Amino acid sequence: MDKYFNNKIIWITGASSGIGEALAWELSRRGAKLILSSRRIAELERVKNNCAHPDNVHILPLDLTDSANLEAKVPLAIALFGHIDIMVHNGGISQRALVAETDIAVHREVMELNYFSYITLTKALLPHFIARGSGYFVVTSSVMGKIGTPMRAAYAAAKHALHGYFDCLRAEVGQYGIKVTILTPGYIHTPIATISGDGSFTSNKSEHINAGFSADKAALQIIKAIQNEAYEPYIGKFIGEERLALFVKRFLPGLFTRLISRFGTPK
Ligand SMILES: NC(=O)c1ccc[n+]([C@@H]2O[C@H](COP(=O)([O-])OP(=O)(O)OC[C@H]3O[C@@H](n4cnc5c(N)ncnc54)[C@H](OP(=O)(O)O)[C@@H]3O)[C@@H](O)[C@H]2O)c1
Repeated sequence: MDKYFNNKIIWITGASSGIGEALAWELSRRGAKLILSSRRIAELERVKNNCAHPDNVHILPLDLTDSANLEAKVPLAIALFGHIDIMVHNGGISQRALVAETDIAVHREVMELNYFSYITLTKALLPHFIARGSGYFVVTSSVMGKIGTPMRAAYAAAKHALHGYFDCLRAEVGQYGIKVTILTPGYIHTPIATISGDGSFTSNKSEHINAGFSADKAALQIIKAIQNEAYEPYIGKFIGEERLALFVKRFLPGLFTRLISRFGTPK
């Protein structure tokens, strides 16, 4: 058991696969009580049954794009264990297509899932956190939430929006004992679904994701970041081009812009 996580009640979206699944296993091993959400009930049951303490895991199926019914999931989640300590916003999809070939409908779809669902759940959960005088939002953004490269406009726009919203939220709610961590993962090896410019899903994943950091190792880094209450931790390979890109963008933005235009050709 772990002093920080033991008996903490943690709601994870995107828990049926990849980063969310690995995080669920690690948190259960540390004694956390979990609420696992995504669309696929059978996959959520599988993740639950593979947890160290399945008796301390509830599943709460939901579709993050079902905006009319999303808010109503919050009281249901709170009722499962009586309260919530940590909300991990993690569900999402990837996107790859040139701007010139991306339908506006795709931008809206990515924004709905990767941005609006996060803020809908946050707004609905906030009164509970404020009333308790504690609470913690952990938000899975991406390195693409800090930089822009070819083929990623819809995804990068939604992830950048998360930084704007959750940085403002952090500045507002620290006074109530509420914390915010925005995770910026590099390439993580997961089966993430990727939408293309016409709205179809493609199995043509980036070779970077296929060669990415393991979700299990990412989960360990995320757990450390939560314990440290880090503001915006990078998650991924210690030495890798994503981390280098963050560094160059931050300290040499002009150089970054020239390099990405010249060498940022998608693979
Ligand atoms: N993999 C990477 O390289 C990488 C890098 C940076 C950031 N990220 C971010 O990490 C997060 C997790 O992605 P992952 O890589 O672990 O991919 P993943 O294995 O495909 O996990 C995505 C999760 O989101 C859920 N999801 C997708 N659409 C949903 C919907 N409409 N409603 C509810 N849940 C939905 C999926 O579950 P269901 O299909 O069961 O609904 C799944 O549990 C995402 O926010 C992604 O942007 C990933």
